[in-house]
Amino acid sequence: MILRSVAGPVDALSADALVVAVYQDAGLLGAAAAVDTTLDGLLGELLASGALSGQRGTVRVVQTPRAALRRVVTVGLGKPDLVTLEVVRRAVGAAWRAVRGEHAQRIVVALPGASGEGMLEPVQAAETVVEAALLAEYRFDRYRQPADQDAPELHVYSLDAAAGQAIERGLVVGEAKAAATNLARDLVNTGPSEMRPVDLAAAARALAAETGLQCTVLDEAALRAAGCHLLLAVNRGSEAAPALIVLEHHGGATDAPTLGLVGKGVCFDSGGLSIKSADSMMTMKGDMSGAAAVLGAMGALARLRVPLNVTGVVAAVQNLVGAHSIMPGDVVTGLAGKSVEILNTDAEGRLILADALTYATATLGLAPVVDIATLTGACMRALGPFYAGVFGSDRRLLERIRQVGLQSGEKFWELPLDEEYGELMRGSISDLKNISGEASGGASSAAMFLQEFVGSTPWAHLDIAGHGIAKSEQGYQPQGATGYGARTLVNLCLSLAKRGLEE
Ligand code: BES
Ligand code: MN
Ligand code: ZN
Repeated sequence: MILRSVAGPVDALSADALVVAVYQDAGLLGAAAAVDTTLDGLLGELLASGALSGQRGTVRVVQTPRAALRRVVTVGLGKPDLVTLEVVRRAVGAAWRAVRGEHAQRIVVALPGASGEGMLEPVQAAETVVEAALLAEYRFDRYRQPADQDAPELHVYSLDAAAGQAIERGLVVGEAKAAATNLARDLVNTGPSEMRPVDLAAAARALAAETGLQCTVLDEAALRAAGCHLLLAVNRGSEAAPALIVLEHHGGATDAPTLGLVGKGVCFDSGGLSIKSADSMMTMKGDMSGAAAVLGAMGALARLRVPLNVTGVVAAVQNLVGAHSIMPGDVVTGLAGKSVEILNTDAEGRLILADALTYATATLGLAPVVDIATLTGACMRALGPFYAGVFGSDRRLLERIRQVGLQSGEKFWELPLDEEYGELMRGSISDLKNISGEASGGASSAAMFLQEFVGSTPWAHLDIAGHGIAKSEQGYQPQGATGYGARTLVNLCLSLAKRGLEE
């Protein structure tokens, strides 16, 4: 999509559609006021008559008599002092759908929050507008007839002629963040037979070649030689080869610490011999959503040259039923040297993450480490569709994740990580077992299992189960893969780059 910045008076604009923000109980502000003047008070009249509203979530397409400005689209942002980035993102998403539905091609979106309205900085507002438009424009076309859809142009507009530079920077950042999410969406949307561990590795290599990341892949033989027997055990029922994918971004000083991002890449989770029901298997191509978020985020870090060292580690397997599948009761010792009795083969994410976390912390020496995984149905049931779970003992890291998650429109709520849950994971014939044996509390016992494999490294665990695939479209989220977590990871890295990894 073509992205441009445009600044100056409304009279000079030419567009198929101009999107402006309208606020609740605040009259017309900024760009909307200027447009109103140009249109001889048309918006003001509509507002007075109640045909237009500043209420959050409302979108109106207004036909105008001006040839250069056929449509003005108003989006309600609610009360000016309650406008957040996510409010802007959803509003732009809704407006984008409306104008694209009318086949508008040259689309101008006026910066919300600029010129004294609300509280958004122009650069942040521009970034968010671009991000939302690109996220809303996303389509997954791999399995469709080629659509003869026209490519839209997005012009981000400010009345303030001096805002051009801020907008330009916002365009770059917004585009990179949306690309992170959209890459993750592509990887998750692809059918599982075509998104095997080796395909994920190929995608990582292609991303590295494109962006300047360094990519290393440990194949089955290398994993065996290294001792990643837990990861290998999960993949035993599959004909496809497993992979441990390592992506490096060297943005910081050579002697500076390196943040680790670890992703669960179960390219399909049938449950193994502890097989899932047909219904719960339906979305299990999305069990590599954590891996997809890590790949997407790594690409953005390279594109934006974020001044921080970051290494992504993705454990990629398939959890299938086969003659060689692991059996409940099997005991396997992984890279960390701890033995695990595998009592339920459907609790496989923690097994592959055990090796990936050991590899990230003990082998590569990464710190802090953040893992992201569609790990437990229990987390999904505890929090519902509006929050994902976050676990850890580093208060500052957790608070930072919560904050950047809010900014990204991906909310994280902390769940407990207490020794009592860990007790449940102690083995009777082994060091650990892979299920707690309790019917509830599964998100925390899984997190405690993971903690066994990070040693003393500061660590946070994100459980995004249930967030990888959306059942229906909403705002800037089309139906299907969401790319959940990718932008939060990018924002976390941007925040850590600003304030330092050890702070
Ligand atoms: N991949 C699933 C978790 C999941 C569930 C993700 C629903 C997305 C939507 C995970 O591997 C799993 O099967 N977990 C089991 C663990 C149980 C056997 C202890 C679960 O949550 O039921
Ligand atoms: Mn499973
Ligand atoms: Zn799984």
